[in-house]
Amino acid sequence: MSNIAVIGTQWGDEGKGKIIDLLAERFDIIARFQGGHNAGHTVCLGNQKYILHLIPTGILHPEKICVIGNGVVVDITALINEIEELKKKGVVINDNLLISQRAHIIMPYHRLMDRYREEARGAKRIGTTGRGIGPAYENKMARSGICAGDLMNEKVLIDKVAANIEEINHVLEKVYSQPRIDPGAIEAEILEQAESVKGYITDTSLFINNALDHGKSLLMEGAQGTMLDIDHGTYPYVTSSNCVASNACTGLGIGISRVDGVMGVIKAYTTRVGNGPFPTELTDKSGQILQEKGNEYGATTGRRRRCGWFDGVVARYAIRINGVHTLALTKLDVMDTLAKINVCQGYKWKGKIFSDLPYDPTVLAEGEPVYKELDGWLASTSDLTEYNRLPQKAKDYIKYIEDMFETPICLISTGSEREKTIWVKGSPLDNWLMIP
Ligand code: GDP
Ligand code: IMO
Ligand code: MG
Repeated sequence: MSNIAVIGTQWGDEGKGKIIDLLAERFDIIARFQGGHNAGHTVCLGNQKYILHLIPTGILHPEKICVIGNGVVVDITALINEIEELKKKGVVINDNLLISQRAHIIMPYHRLMDRYREEARGAKRIGTTGRGIGPAYENKMARSGICAGDLMNEKVLIDKVAANIEEINHVLEKVYSQPRIDPGAIEAEILEQAESVKGYITDTSLFINNALDHGKSLLMEGAQGTMLDIDHGTYPYVTSSNCVASNACTGLGIGISRVDGVMGVIKAYTTRVGNGPFPTELTDKSGQILQEKGNEYGATTGRRRRCGWFDGVVARYAIRINGVHTLALTKLDVMDTLAKINVCQGYKWKGKIFSDLPYDPTVLAEGEPVYKELDGWLASTSDLTEYNRLPQKAKDYIKYIEDMFETPICLISTGSEREKTIWVKGSPLDNWLMIP
């Protein structure tokens, strides 16, 4: 069996949760390698809907081991709540969940800083999820962050929290004219919370590497998407971690030689939550159809997602940056009622066509998409599970996308539920899963 990274190729919410849940039963370990509870991965099983934020999607498969890797930032309150919510729905969580001792902790003051920073940015605000993700990663890079492993040592923990709060209080008071925070209350809270999560914390790199040495397989679960990557996304309108496939190695403590394949999850159109450039954004009736039919509301914040046409520039870029071997195309059914469908092939700015993603934020903001218009299929693809039953024009759309990047599509998703998926025969996925 192979070890596969599954990542988002657009601005997040591509349907990673559905695809990872579908694949999870074929792997032994499912591991998150970056991000935090800014993620919202939806899985629909029968009438039950689960939204995973911090815990890997594999947790819905009781016999699998789920790992929160060192590259993730963990809010303990959110983690405890998520565990409780899942348990209420009958999900078993005990020694099937492991948290890296090197994962950094999101503290209450990170949430505060996230809020004040956003307020201070005014019209230029990023539109973060307000979960303290950015400030927690800043703290990590500043080498003063608190690691999950520190929860095991009361003295180290309290010393670090105290030092952080001293600095934060200075910033709160002097920069944001906000009241100081009380270290005592935060220290007491973290000490109490530490007790309920200590049992999950371990050396997850050692665990994964040992498991792989013994022939176990690993599914690496990406969060967010390539265009939100701190290095490669539409900076500064990005999240604060590397969402790209290569970070699966750093974020889990495994060597690059361990990764056999990269699957990119790609929506049949594009969405974005939060602010920042979005060249193919639609503000007309078609956009409204995608928004409503696709039920495009944030799984974490409930915000309305901005919708637009499929962006070939973004897809080409994501395939390159991640080294995508194969694509899972999601939400095809959402486009069933559109008579005409556009696919963006480049951006036109000041007479020049950009078919590779430009860095320049001005080009991204002002560039006019150059579209190829295709006929819609005007027939239902909802719930289809066989490629042959797709309307010809839907097949043409899929083929068009595939040919644009010379990257095979392995899965076509036609509904939220696990079973509403077309497995395309002969793709790299078959080899990875050893499907004859
Ligand atoms: P993620 O963050 O990439 O895991 O994606 P989200 O879960 O935030 O958003 C994807 C949404 O689309 C969820 O509500 C899924 O249940 C839903 N979804 C996934 N695949 C399909 C599909 O093929 N068709 C439809 N109609 N909905 C889908
Ligand atoms: P999943 O894993 C979509 C966006 C926020 C904001 C920017 C920075 O469900 O695809 P942050 O709180 O991370 O500092 O916010 O990133 N964002 C997401 N958008 N899906 C996500 O996760 C996202 N996680 C963060 O809306 O624009
Ligand atoms: Mg999501």
